[in-house]
Amino acid sequence: MVNNPPVTAVQSIETEWLNLDYSYQGISDAELRDYAKKKLPANFDALKQQLMTGEFENKTEQRTVTHVLNRGIHNVVKAANGKNRFVEIVRLLRSGNWLGATGKPITDVVNIGVGGSDLGPMMGAFALREFADDYSLHTLNTHFVSSMDGGQLYAVLPIIDPETTLFIIASKSFSTIDTLANVRTVLEWIKPTLTRNQWLDHHVIGVSANNQAMMEFGIPPSQQLSFADSVGGRFSMWSAIGLPIALTIGSNQFGKMLEGAQAMDQHFATTKDVTKNIPVLLALLGIYNREERGINNLAILPYDGRLRYLPSYMQQLDMESNGKQATHDNQPLHKPTGPIIWGGYGPNGQHAFFQHLHQGWDSFTADFIAVLHRAAPGFSHDVQRALREQQRLAVSNCLAHRKLMWEGYRATTADGQDDPRNTYTGQHPTNLLYVDELTPQSFGALIAAYEHKVFTQGVIWGINSFDQPGVEKGKNCAKDILAVIDGDKDNDFDASTDRIIRRM
Ligand code: F6P
Repeated sequence: MVNNPPVTAVQSIETEWLNLDYSYQGISDAELRDYAKKKLPANFDALKQQLMTGEFENKTEQRTVTHVLNRGIHNVVKAANGKNRFVEIVRLLRSGNWLGATGKPITDVVNIGVGGSDLGPMMGAFALREFADDYSLHTLNTHFVSSMDGGQLYAVLPIIDPETTLFIIASKSFSTIDTLANVRTVLEWIKPTLTRNQWLDHHVIGVSANNQAMMEFGIPPSQQLSFADSVGGRFSMWSAIGLPIALTIGSNQFGKMLEGAQAMDQHFATTKDVTKNIPVLLALLGIYNREERGINNLAILPYDGRLRYLPSYMQQLDMESNGKQATHDNQPLHKPTGPIIWGGYGPNGQHAFFQHLHQGWDSFTADFIAVLHRAAPGFSHDVQRALREQQRLAVSNCLAHRKLMWEGYRATTADGQDDPRNTYTGQHPTNLLYVDELTPQSFGALIAAYEHKVFTQGVIWGINSFDQPGVEKGKNCAKDILAVIDGDKDNDFDASTDRIIRRM
């Protein structure tokens, strides 16, 4: 086994909020430029421009793609000089001035949504908690409920009070069965305390692209926040779907997250040299690893606990967008597209799956994500120092493992023989995405960079990254099975399925 020599030339890109080191990819900038010439469509600049102006076509769903506009002209915070419903709702709830039906201030908010109506808001609210505008002395606890089986409601309902809890019903379509099932259970739970109308008038905000469905459900117009149909669910955290983030950190800080994303939009749109353009380079490296090296997976490994929900978010963003075998004009595609995305909080992964990464049989690529510095305001001097030491500990572990994964390590015994037990295979190409500090801006830039990576890969592969036809069949099949479980139909699926149904 030959290990990679230590890297001598740094390959990196620095932008206002986000940096990328791709020195451990084993591909030179000259090779990358050639590869870009081969891969990028001739009209790539025009396609990027269409994305920036909201004119890129999502042909199969017959609409355009407009999530980038949410960072600019359709910015929910800036709209109407900030005097809009979104900002007003955030202000009322965060200041303790939103009162429930019995006159008590709201203390808890439960976001009920799934997929894009859950993953982005949950990730953002968790990552940015410490940036809360401190004008708010009122404590607002935020909870997320997505699971169809009610598992999260089991945990949340006992610790909240119907009189002091507000529910965000977040669903682009307002028809997702998972979300509606959770809402139905909540409606049963409030019954001893509130009428349905009291609940709707004082304890619900609807966030959806389906205004009619929100009306039919009975949500008062002043409590409806809508966003455009042309904003895909997995690209919607910049719209009103991001309400839980704004409730956690305030509208101004939410606006800063949008600014960071907008800075990345500019970087992506205007940087011509592909070796200086973070999203384009991430896309090219990803395709190179997939097509030339045959690696079918990408691990997302954040080394900062605040980014712990990033891997699940990335699974939807990348896999729902680019896990496809047909082109946008419905021709079969005979080569692999998006990889399997997986991962987890890096330092804890070191005590779980890293053994396999270092010495197992499988090839992988990984994105390490590091935050170099962390202020720890609000703690004593000694605790601050200890916390800063912990941040340095995490970064040093991040650097150590990515180095080992690339270089490998060939161990020998005392008498000079090969020592396979202590040998590390190495040769695993990885990226390091890093920020000086995690802030709303750098967080926004990171997520926008990944969005544009997914877009770039989609146009290179010629697929539509903005639809998700592959999620429908399972939903329909589940309806048929449920009808049998509920006794409305006879069993007739297959021996295994029928047996489980009988047992139920
Ligand atoms: O089933 C997939 C999906 O449609 C995702 O694309 C979407 O983010 C999620 O379901 C939730 O959809 P909605 O926001 O319409 O409830």
